[in-house]
Amino acid sequence: MNYKKLGKIIGISLVIVIIAAVLGFSIAFYDVMGFNDKESQTLNPDGAVVGNAMVVYDPGITGTAKKVADSIAKDLQAKGYRVELAGISSSKADNISDYSVIVVGGPIYDGNASSSVNEYLKNLKISQNTSLGVFASGMDPDSAKDNVTLLKEAAPLPENSDLQIKAVMKVVNGNIDNNAINNFVNKLLQ
Ligand SMILES: Cc1cc2nc3c(=O)[nH]c(=O)nc-3n(C[C@H](O)[C@H](O)[C@H](O)COP(=O)(O)O)c2cc1C
Repeated sequence: MNYKKLGKIIGISLVIVIIAAVLGFSIAFYDVMGFNDKESQTLNPDGAVVGNAMVVYDPGITGTAKKVADSIAKDLQAKGYRVELAGISSSKADNISDYSVIVVGGPIYDGNASSSVNEYLKNLKISQNTSLGVFASGMDPDSAKDNVTLLKEAAPLPENSDLQIKAVMKVVNGNIDNNAINNFVNKLLQ
């Protein structure tokens, strides 16, 4: 292969990598996936219904956070809850009055919850009796080591917010551990 041809291949590869990086960063920065997820589905328990729960998710770029939301919803379903699994921009996610348990989460971008999760939490008004849990997915394992750091990252609430978060968790590199999901849900339901 001559040098001219090799240079051309390297040049084209470089352009593709740069375009992919800019695209990925833009999708994350503007939270394109979160602001466009309008899907929702209801999961009914096999036996008697013990309560109604809502799991709201920003799916993230590759859908990792949606998978985490799915696992949390199934765990709540197994514990007898009728669960609404709702994309963060769906109409279901807007109407939270019928739920005693609410879970909200999505990906972490640049040390912060995604814009749609931030906005959702900022506008969330719940009664004292509602249990609120927050989850995050990301690549950085350090922030998941203690709950105070994780809460700042996953649920950066305004100072005047009176929301009480009962349980928080982060899934790192898409490794969804069913024990961790079970512990998170148990803490939420305590
Ligand atoms: C621009 C950008 C910034 C990111 N910053 C962080 C970060 O600060 N902390 C972290 O844990 N993960 C970070 N991540 C990883 C994402 O959270 C991770 O890609 C996501 O949770 C996995 O799901 P997704 O690819 O479906 O979005 C970042 C990803 C992108 C694209």
